[in-house]
Amino acid sequence: MKCHNPLLLIVFFFISQFSVAEENVEQKINAILSQMTLKEKIGQLNQLNARFPDQNLFEAIKKGQVGSVINVEDSALLTKMQRMAVSETRLGIPLLMGRDVIHGYKTIFPIPVGLAATFNTDLVKKGSRVAAMEATEVGIRWTMGPMMDISRDARWGRIAESFGEDVYLTTQMAVAVVNGFQDNDLTKHTSMAACAKHFIGYGATEGGRDYNSTNIPERQLRNVYLPPFEASIKAGCASVMTSFNDNDGIPSTGNKFLLRDILRTEWSFDGVVVADWNSVNEMINHGFCKNESEAAEIAINAGLDMDMVSEAYLNHLEKLVKMEKVSEETIDNAVRNILRLKFKLNLFGQPFVPKTNSVKAYSTVYLQAAQQAASESFVLLKNENNTLPFKTTIKKIAIIGPMADAPHDQLGTWSLDGEKSHTIMPYKALTEMYGGQVEFLYEKTLGFSRDNNKSKFKNAVKQAKKADVIVAFIGEESILTGEAHSLAELNLQGVQSDLIKELKKTGKPLVLVIMAGRPLTIMNEVAQADAVLYVWHPGTMGGPAIADMLFGKTNPSGKLPVTFPKYVGQIPFHYNHNMTGRPASKRETLLNDIPLEPRQSSLGCTSYYLDAGFDPLFPFGFGLSYSSFEYSNLQLSTTLMTVYDSLTAKATIKNTSDVDGYEVVQLYVRDLVGSIARPVKELKGFQKIYLKAGDSKTVEFILKASDLAFYGLDLTKKTEPGDFDIWIGKNSEEGLKGKFSVK
Ligand code: BGC
Repeated sequence: MKCHNPLLLIVFFFISQFSVAEENVEQKINAILSQMTLKEKIGQLNQLNARFPDQNLFEAIKKGQVGSVINVEDSALLTKMQRMAVSETRLGIPLLMGRDVIHGYKTIFPIPVGLAATFNTDLVKKGSRVAAMEATEVGIRWTMGPMMDISRDARWGRIAESFGEDVYLTTQMAVAVVNGFQDNDLTKHTSMAACAKHFIGYGATEGGRDYNSTNIPERQLRNVYLPPFEASIKAGCASVMTSFNDNDGIPSTGNKFLLRDILRTEWSFDGVVVADWNSVNEMINHGFCKNESEAAEIAINAGLDMDMVSEAYLNHLEKLVKMEKVSEETIDNAVRNILRLKFKLNLFGQPFVPKTNSVKAYSTVYLQAAQQAASESFVLLKNENNTLPFKTTIKKIAIIGPMADAPHDQLGTWSLDGEKSHTIMPYKALTEMYGGQVEFLYEKTLGFSRDNNKSKFKNAVKQAKKADVIVAFIGEESILTGEAHSLAELNLQGVQSDLIKELKKTGKPLVLVIMAGRPLTIMNEVAQADAVLYVWHPGTMGGPAIADMLFGKTNPSGKLPVTFPKYVGQIPFHYNHNMTGRPASKRETLLNDIPLEPRQSSLGCTSYYLDAGFDPLFPFGFGLSYSSFEYSNLQLSTTLMTVYDSLTAKATIKNTSDVDGYEVVQLYVRDLVGSIARPVKELKGFQKIYLKAGDSKTVEFILKASDLAFYGLDLTKKTEPGDFDIWIGKNSEEGLKGKFSVK
């Protein structure tokens, strides 16, 4: 490394005298801070977009005006910029290289909602480990994930990036991803700093329209939206990203209560708080700040360390300090958080990717993990007459529909670096893997999911008539989900529903493989199909995973992390709702049974829709298997515990089929009476078990009384004594029920 500056040499010397041991880090930070000008400090708080790097960006780096860059695609460029930072700036402080590495870097895993459907935290952790191995090979050390927004509205396109609607499941998945990226030791050059986003409540955006406002009261914030963040921070998550929404009128990026009182004071978070893209400046659009200077002032005083790309900090903080609207101490503390992360990542010691790095993207082990994750994410929603897996009597299969060969869409949203050329599509996989034993008759029929051109329907029907079974690959393109991609209707796009009707008319068994980023309203299509496999956007290895499942080499084990509504009008719809004062009896009168001119009160007064009833299409936690499992013998170690105790809940699960398989055993509780109304059910545990045909296993859950704690009437978290229902079951609607009390 060439070093032009004597001061730089002194700083390097000073830094190298210390190990990365934590106790010394604060001294090192202070040593650097004491050398920094105000301008250099403000530079550390500035993250710039390096997607289209130009001379201005390079100059800014050299002047010490940049603490981090985001969106660099090219490893040579990344190295070049890091070299500028460490050897051409006065103090040689390395850059934090950020990128959205969400569900894979090169080897793309299923979208996060699919990962959640695996109910397999080890596998999900492995997925983010693979992503980190591949991304750090080019020098990216900071990922902008995981997203842990509780998402109960499928209209919101970013539900695809979420772990679904449940607090417990989201928390487990978020922590698994954080651990996968950070690998318990950020100093390793193969570790990436994770970023818990979006803080907070972004998934509750009104009407499911992206960027919209939220209105989450503090109690709900604490009971539903904050827990995954708190758990991730406890697990060591290095950074947090603010959200775009205003909650109750306050944009998160300027919300001191969130960023200081909760994050720093209550949770003792000492990592970096970064704004979401341009969200400092967007506080002007919100009508929360009158100009960029005020936005910078409000954000830094609220506790936002790093400004992502808006440059409001760069443009105004120096002046704001001079005007005493922002104290230098506030700036110093923000810089400390950023330098601390740079130390934790050992960027001062090793700013570049070591030459010895031998990790290769798309390694066989990575592809195998991606295939397993895809396979475990698939949810079998229907399987009449055991249509799946295909029997050996099946000789000809018609492959119809736009998603059988859609490599780009298969990768899903936020797969910035995934490559079509490495993606294996279902049609290709089926022909290559099973072409020797069956004949495939392929007719894509529609170019893409929104295609309205029916001219190839004839060919599709012709192929279908020749086949023993039809497999229709339908769904939605990846661009219809993700950021800024909300939908008001969730029916299948284009003329896909019409295609299903035509295929159904052939009388041949009809299998739907649905590739989508969210729950779609597919009630009519499910009714027409013999079998339905929901495969989300399954990533690089989706094709082989689907092929093996259709032919029974693997057995479905995914469970829904989100409730599937029958109609959009039921949204937001989640299993863990409150009871209401007039709960549905599920025997309500529906539209077609209403007599003419009845009395106002003749239908009863319960909480349901006249046209949709009360039930979802499929409940949270639901998913079939080629095996069948029987639950019996629920046993509780006690039916009375104190608030300091725990109990053991056990049940026996038997595989009553002749097929080996995995089952996700789920534990739910209901707190019958609380100081506030409590959810009808809450997931408190799950275990994925493997049972050979005919085998049984007793599954044991330990439920601590503290697991039942929540923020009640007085807004403190505690376990309230009382009576509880408890279930061990196969989904949120079916289970063995017991009772216990807490005194
Ligand atoms: C998204 C974030 C993302 C950031 C950086 C924003 O538009 O909301 O989730 O990490 O861009 O790409």
